Amino acid sequence: MSAFRIVMLPGDGVGPEVIAVARAVLERTGARFGHAFSFDEQLIGGAAIDATGEALPAKTLDACRGADAVLLGAVGGPRWDKGAVRPEQGLLGIRKALGLYANVRPLILQPALIAQSPLKREIVEGVDLIVFRELTGGSYFGEKRQSATEASDLCIYTVGEIERIARAAFTAARARRKKVTSVDKANVMATSRLWRETVTRIGETEFADVALEHVLIDAMTMHVLRQPRSYDVIVTENMFGDILTDELSAIGGSLGLAPSASLGAGKPGLFEPVHGSAPDIAGQDLANPIGMTLSAAMMLRHGLMLEAEAEAVENAVADALAAGARTRDIGGALGCRAMGDAILSALG
Ligand code: NAD
Ligand code: IPM
Ligand code: MN
Repeated sequence: MSAFRIVMLPGDGVGPEVIAVARAVLERTGARFGHAFSFDEQLIGGAAIDATGEALPAKTLDACRGADAVLLGAVGGPRWDKGAVRPEQGLLGIRKALGLYANVRPLILQPALIAQSPLKREIVEGVDLIVFRELTGGSYFGEKRQSATEASDLCIYTVGEIERIARAAFTAARARRKKVTSVDKANVMATSRLWRETVTRIGETEFADVALEHVLIDAMTMHVLRQPRSYDVIVTENMFGDILTDELSAIGGSLGLAPSASLGAGKPGLFEPVHGSAPDIAGQDLANPIGMTLSAAMMLRHGLMLEAEAEAVENAVADALAAGARTRDIGGALGCRAMGDAILSALG
């Protein structure tokens, strides 16, 4: 029996609703495979601001630093939009503090949900791609200034920051279909020109067996809709990756289905769905818990190195969908808890 310490950060909006499902799924998985998962719940985002005045209390960060992995629901909401401290600062703060520079966002096309894609079956069938989104640089973290008449967000990338995310993407591609698509705006942005030069050099010198192409972000948002099957690993900077992955989630049928892993050089990783706090449906048991549950599966695989356990969770999600379980966002009538129950019963 192995013991793992998991910090849970439910956050705001639908965060607590979906993370409750992930926790139940992890408990069942632990029982089935003989692991003792301990769960330490901590505050982040708006919930932390309400309780402590800070979006990322020191106690939360300390608990995360001592954990084997961190699972996060979502942060943010209209209640905190006008405050001096924003819930999103908590999420950006924990990514930065833990050095989580690689945000891995796979587009998983559930066979049972092909009809839920807004794209035609012949365009989406067989899609299998992963986005490597740089997560601790760019305009998210450069100096921000705002006066009554002017505002600026500084976008900075260092060669080192680009090299490490490029290596992560090339390494993943090497184990897949050996193709990397680097997405930038090198026709306008200096950071993108440095990005393109650096990714090209890493590809030529360290990954000559992996094909590399460069595509501008504006065209890329169009190409992924017309021919999503032609992509294997996509690597891009923080803001472009944020936008592109919400778009890609729709191809899979719903933003509520999309998981992610935020990884750094060591432990712990942070595992979080792509979606946000969904204020429009929060507190109504309407959220789809699958993005969160598949993030827990990514935690089992990439955070705790439990591959068979990760597959068991992924299979349970696929089986529940194959059996017809559907939340409202994917054309059904189940609530978040009932969808969780369907996944649990598929898990056995
Ligand atoms: P959102 O992702 O919260 O919601 C966008 C749309 O998708 C909404 O219509 C919502 O109902 C739907 N949706 C999202 N998750 C769903 C789920 N699990 N099941 C069913 N439908 C789902 O984005 P938004 O509305 O632009 O942002 C709301 C708040 O969330 C903002 O404060 C934003 O900063 C924050 N946010 C947080 C994260 C995060 O914590 N990782 C990510 C994105 C946005
Ligand atoms: C995401 C979210 C966050 C981001 C926000 C809430 C800071 O949109 O995880 O995709 O932009 O990274
Ligand atoms: Mn986002």
